[in-house]
Amino acid sequence: MDKKVTVVGAGNVGATVAQRLAEKELCDVVLVDIIEGVPQGKTLDLTEAAPIEKHDSHLIGVNGYDATEGSDIVIVTAGIPRKPGMSRDDLISTNAGIVKNVTEQITSRSPEAVIIIVSNPLDAMCHVAYEASGFPKQRVIGMAGVLDSARFRAFISMELNVSVENTHAFVLGGHGDSMVPLPRYSTVAGIPITELLSQERINALVDRTRNGGAEIVGLLKTGSAYYAPASAAVEMAESILKDKKKILPCAAYLEGEYGLQGLFIGVPVKLGAGGIEQIIEITLTGEEQQALQKSADAVQELKDLLKTLG
Ligand code: NAI
Ligand code: 2OP
Repeated sequence: MDKKVTVVGAGNVGATVAQRLAEKELCDVVLVDIIEGVPQGKTLDLTEAAPIEKHDSHLIGVNGYDATEGSDIVIVTAGIPRKPGMSRDDLISTNAGIVKNVTEQITSRSPEAVIIIVSNPLDAMCHVAYEASGFPKQRVIGMAGVLDSARFRAFISMELNVSVENTHAFVLGGHGDSMVPLPRYSTVAGIPITELLSQERINALVDRTRNGGAEIVGLLKTGSAYYAPASAAVEMAESILKDKKKILPCAAYLEGEYGLQGLFIGVPVKLGAGGIEQIIEITLTGEEQQALQKSADAVQELKDLLKTLG
């Protein structure tokens, strides 16, 4: 393949990202983890599936970073996931150290890469990677909005018994309890769901979306979601690798857009070969803007907490 993607963290999300990247034949994949044998074993297993899955992506698993040199994209999934009773924010101290270290390792070997952060708490981990990399803001992007919007789409499709392909949804804001699903911009075959569902049902779907991560943690008990998160990260990577210029909700560094300054938060962006090629500012009602501000305040609190951690 002429494209190379490094996936750091060979756990549930990372290994599934590697699988989807290879099976879509988007690139060669380097899977990195600190646990000896795990990235090697998982990539060998995926390589042995390749004749059946019919792809020629090369996968290698490593415990160091030399093989990551010259990556087009680095997807960071390293860290600990949450367990029942934990919020995403409870992970901050452990994961900040991991994301900083990983970022330093990858940026020296792939100075032109686009970094996609997955590790939680997402918006705060984007800050850590942005600062540790010194990359331009266009090349540090967080994955959350694509996942949260996909959850909203799945729930809309289940509610109305329509194809998921007919659904579009936008969830903005931080990847936490204060995320901002936008029913006015969420449609079925172009029809806003506000025309198709009662306010009561919309509120129920919005709540389920906000708690989508916790719902899965409660069921799995030993970790958090990974199939949909991996699909979301791969959709972002595909748009960058193929320069598709998809408009997707992603965590981006804002400098005045939406009235927010110096924060990573989920907004609609255009993703192409250069990473974030445009931040799209949609008109929000007073209530929606207020909800986004509340979500931004929660992200700011985590950013402040990062400073106290050093
Ligand atoms: P996991 O525990 O299955 O995998 C994490 C992997 O990271 C482990 O294999 C571990 O050995 C590895 N790791 C730890 N420190 C490392 C280091 N310094 N270098 C390289 N690898 C290292 O966890 P899972 O389920 O894959 O989740 C990964 C992260 O992604 C968690 O922080 C989780 O909260 C987050 N997440 C974020 C989502 C989002 O929407 N942004 C969605 C789903 C998960
Ligand atoms: C999720 O939303 C845990 O952030 C992860 O599933």
